[in-house]
Amino acid sequence: MEFIKVNYEYKKHIALIELNRPKELNALNLQLMGELRDALKDLDNNDEVRVIIITGNEKAFAAGADIKQMSDKSAVDMLKIDQFSTWDQIRKTKKPLIAAVSGFALGGGCELAMTCDMIIASETARFGQPEIKIGVMPGAGGTQRLTKAVGKARAMELVLTGRFISGEEAVQYGLANKVVPVEMYLYEATKLAEEIAEMSPIAAMLAKESVNRSFETHLDEGLTFERKNFYLTFASEDQSEGMNAFIEKRRPQYKGR
Ligand code: HXC
Repeated sequence: MEFIKVNYEYKKHIALIELNRPKELNALNLQLMGELRDALKDLDNNDEVRVIIITGNEKAFAAGADIKQMSDKSAVDMLKIDQFSTWDQIRKTKKPLIAAVSGFALGGGCELAMTCDMIIASETARFGQPEIKIGVMPGAGGTQRLTKAVGKARAMELVLTGRFISGEEAVQYGLANKVVPVEMYLYEATKLAEEIAEMSPIAAMLAKESVNRSFETHLDEGLTFERKNFYLTFASEDQSEGMNAFIEKRRPQYKGR
């Protein structure tokens, strides 16, 4: 891996992926995205890992797709490169993903953060969809996920002006879960990951899938989907462990089975 660092055992049951093109503010070139896709697939298949944190550095989570790599491409080139199949695979990660964001999360960087399930932001975070300023528009879910997260009026403003919002605004807008001082953002993301890692990983995976389904379907279909995943949790040993632990007034020990 050249452009990301993967720590499989960052904490118990938690993996950490660091985007690592610091000189380019972690601009998301095709190789980086391919490495990220491969790492997430690997972590999804690793039974020891229950939660994955994706982060950048203090200055940049990611300043967007790599403009230099795209600048001379035609529409047909872009179609053939088909970078979004990589994004689609990333989106299908089953385990909970937390974005720990400091500095720039712009364009594809903001879209990557929104592809994660939760966002912890530092006070220095800057979120935005500035593609309009370079003559294009969001392409990795920005017009869809941002609108669902913050509503039409705010999404239109951000997408049409390209202006940035702070971590604090991101929380007010419902885009991020929490904003903390810059020294704390990874710690805070880790605390959140640790809390989730104590739960049944099977229940967490099915619950994530169900919440995401709410964006893609009508209520009736979504409720049916949720119900089936709910029933499925009863196929796990973790379900009886969780319920018995409650009755026996002890902490559950989930095994992911
Ligand atoms: C390629 C980038 C880059 C990017 C920064 N760099 N962003 N390279 N693609 N998206 C490079 C710069 O060229 C520069 O390298 C180095 O990183 C530092 O950047 P500076 O501009 O010198 O830093 P600063 O003055 O602090 O400004 C930071 C910034 C600015 C405001 C974030 O870099 C910026 O506006 N970046 C572009 C943001 C953007 O438009 N993102 C959307 C991209 S389109 P050199 O070697 O030149 O010094 C997109 C589409 C997504 O994301 C859909 C498909 C996935």
